[in-house]
Amino acid sequence: MPHIEAIDIYNFRNHDRAHFVFKRGVNVIWGENGSGKTAVLEAVYTLSMGRSFRTHNHKETLKENTDSLSLKGLFNAGSNTKEIRLNQLSSGQRKFFVNDAVLKKTKDLIGENPIVLLSPEEQRLTKGTPGDRRNYFNKVFSTVSQEYLNMLIVYQRIIKQRNSALQEVRRGRTHEKAVEVWNEQTVSVGTKLWRLKTTIIEKFIHEINKINAKYNNEGSDIVLRFVPEGDIETFEERLKKALKLDLVKGWTTVGPHRDDYRFLFNERLLKKYGSQGEHKLALVLIKMAEINIIKTNTGKNPILMLDDFFAKLDFQRADSLLSLLNGDYQTIITTTDIEDFEKHGINLNLKNNATFHLERKCKV
Ligand SMILES: Nc1ncnc2c1ncn2[C@@H]1O[C@H](COP(=O)(O)OP(=O)(O)OP(=O)(O)O)[C@@H](O)[C@H]1O
Ligand SMILES: [Mg+2]
Repeated sequence: MPHIEAIDIYNFRNHDRAHFVFKRGVNVIWGENGSGKTAVLEAVYTLSMGRSFRTHNHKETLKENTDSLSLKGLFNAGSNTKEIRLNQLSSGQRKFFVNDAVLKKTKDLIGENPIVLLSPEEQRLTKGTPGDRRNYFNKVFSTVSQEYLNMLIVYQRIIKQRNSALQEVRRGRTHEKAVEVWNEQTVSVGTKLWRLKTTIIEKFIHEINKINAKYNNEGSDIVLRFVPEGDIETFEERLKKALKLDLVKGWTTVGPHRDDYRFLFNERLLKKYGSQGEHKLALVLIKMAEINIIKTNTGKNPILMLDDFFAKLDFQRADSLLSLLNGDYQTIITTTDIEDFEKHGINLNLKNNATFHLERKCKV
């Protein structure tokens, strides 16, 4: 079972030096607000995905008034252990190393040590913008399919170049032809990406339906609808027609980068009508589907990270989520109140479990 054995943290967020030796079962990090619990999850996540889940700006993670940070994690894939290290300078320059060899492309980390994260930030998936939803699904699809990740990178590069050409035409520096030369590649790569996306999303929907069947008696039913930007078959035609509008906007308005996803909870559009608890519950169900799709497609059990776990979940819901922890997963959970585990009958003293207490350094 894949798991992280240990992590060394140096100058990351509020941590100057910290060392955690994790167990293979339930690991609970507890402490007051601001003691650095989420930062530990963020550090583990960064070594798994190559970036933070809280910010796109790497510089923010460097501890204030310091020059460099480093993270070093030992990931056990069952048969072997790999050391993954990140060194980052205050300039923002950063390098990853796998067993001391420089990693040329950060994308190669993705899918190696998959993590499923349930955190308040992830709530963007049900509450946020279409862009937030696309980011989420791109991340999951990339974790389960290397082919998708590679194609996505190529497609994004093409769109970026087509957009630059659009902007050049707007500035009167070049002719419309400079945009049109990108059309053929946009259509051919975009169509492939769309087809691949459609097959993966079907698998995801299938997993969501299975989860629904399991929890339906608790009155929670989540439906995922994929809303593609347009018809795949007419992409070429639509792209040609869009030229005028694209020139006005300065970016490409049609293609798979404009898809959307909708969630219905008990038949109502979640984003518009969902209560706080329903949002969280829906997220939990989606995350369960995410765990299963990763498991079936990569053969790896992801590491589960649950941030601020008990907030906003009622007892019964928290209980059914905790039943997951009996599965074959390593979990890292943060909470302010360690007693919650006892209330749910979880014995943290078992040999595969561990607890870590963090203290806030400056008192308010
Ligand atoms: N770059 C940084 N340098 C120094 N301190 C930072 C930096 N970034 C964040 N912090 C501080 O680190 C502290 C820890 O934040 P973190 O979100 O990990 O706490 P937490 O234990 O998860 O708290 P909560 O229970 O409220 O979620 C916060 O007080 C935050 O202001
Ligand atoms: Mg936190």
